[in-house]
Formats: sequence, C-alpha cells, structure tokens
Amino acid sequence: MKHQHFKNTEQAYGRIAKWIHWSVAILFLLAYVSVYYRQWFTEEKTPENWNALQVHLSVGVTIGVLVLLRIIWKLINVTPRAEPGTPMEHLAAKLGHYALYLVMLVMPLTGYMGTGANTEFFFLFDISKFADTWIYQALVVDGLNSSFEAIEPTMDFIHKEIGGKWLVWILILGHAMAAMYHHFVKRDNTLKRML
Ligand code: HEM
Repeated sequence: MKHQHFKNTEQAYGRIAKWIHWSVAILFLLAYVSVYYRQWFTEEKTPENWNALQVHLSVGVTIGVLVLLRIIWKLINVTPRAEPGTPMEHLAAKLGHYALYLVMLVMPLTGYMGTGANTEFFFLFDISKFADTWIYQALVVDGLNSSFEAIEPTMDFIHKEIGGKWLVWILILGHAMAAMYHHFVKRDNTLKRML
C-alpha cells in the first residue's frame, strides 16, 4: 500500500478522515444493534435491558463527538477533488453529504435531549442526563419557559419516528449505493480513496 497521509490531499482522503468515516459507520451499526436488541430481545427492568440502552447512549454520544471532530477536520483541510460527472451528479452528492452530516448531528442531539437517564458507559465519564445540565436550565427552562416533559415527545418523534426508522436508512442506503455506482459502474476512484 502507498504511503498514507494524515491530511487529505487533492487525490484522496487522509488517515484521519478515513478513520473517522469508518468508525462512524461501525458505530451507526452498533447504535441500531444495541437499541433493537434492547427492544426485541430483553425484558424491561433487567440488567441486559439497561446495559443495551447504555451501549446505545454511549455509542450515540461518541458519534456526536466524532462528527464534530470530523466537521472541524473538514473545515481546516482540503476535500479531494470530485471525479468527473454531470453538474446534477455533483449537486446530488453535495446535498446527500450535507444531509448525512445533518443526521449525524441531529440524531445524537435529539437522542440526548429526549433521554431521562444518565449516560454511564461513556469511556471513563458519566454524562448527566440533559435535564440535569445548565444548558437545559438556560435553554429550555429560562429561554423557552418550558420543561423536559414538554420537549421530550418532540425529541423522541424526530429521533425515533423520523430519523431512526426512515431518514437514516434512506441516507445510508443512498450513500452506499452511490459508492457502489462509482466503483462498479463508473469505475472511478471515489470509493478507493476512502479505503
Ligand atoms: C447517531 C446516533 C444515534 C442513532 C442512529 C440512534 C438511533 C436510534 C434508533 C433507531 C432508535 C429506535 C427507534 C424506535 O424505537 O423505533 C433509538 C432509540 C433511542 N435512542 Fe437513539 N440513536 C442515536 C443516538 C442516541 C443518543 C446520543 C442518545 C442519548 C444519549 C439516544 C437515546 C435513545 C433512546 C433513549 C431511545 C429509546 C430506546 C428504547 O425505547 O428502547 N440515541 N435511537
């Protein structure tokens, strides 16, 4: 294998971007496996049920942290030049990527803001539940004159009904199909430069 750069180049993604990209892909899978394992295969109020939820919370928060790092890294780095394509294809790619960044931010945020439990497994840290934070106090209580009970259904709706059940799948499937199209139909370097 060729010498790998840490930073992106005009031709390919560097090690850092690749590492974050594939970590997030695996963590998405884990977020789904843990939450559906909890819902389908565990009984309420058992340790397995609680642990599966905690895995979901920690994996989700980790995705949130990684995507923030990814966005900073993207802003201070070059993005490899797009392979030749029509203006419509380039526009579709751009919109698809923005939508992916959006769900990678919105899913952890709505998950955290709609959860009434602390996150206990986040590496060495315990993360307080949203309702115990000063941000909640400043934003929801003082700012919106509202409460956790009032915002929770909206957060849950976005997190579960829109994002979790539909939007995330549609975007990831579209993303993976676009990568396959580049690799097997157009036979260009789009997939290779992220590997
Ligand atoms: C990218 C990150 C995340 C993804 C893709 C994701 C995805 C999902 C999915 C698919 C569900 C199940 C929806 C359903 O019931 O049909 C769910 C439920 C849930 N999520 Fe997330 N989530 C993420 C991050 C988070 C975070 C950061 C938290 C909180 C810190 C969180 C808290 C929850 C909770 C409490 C539930 C309900 C669990 C249950 O009822 O069993 N999620 N999430």
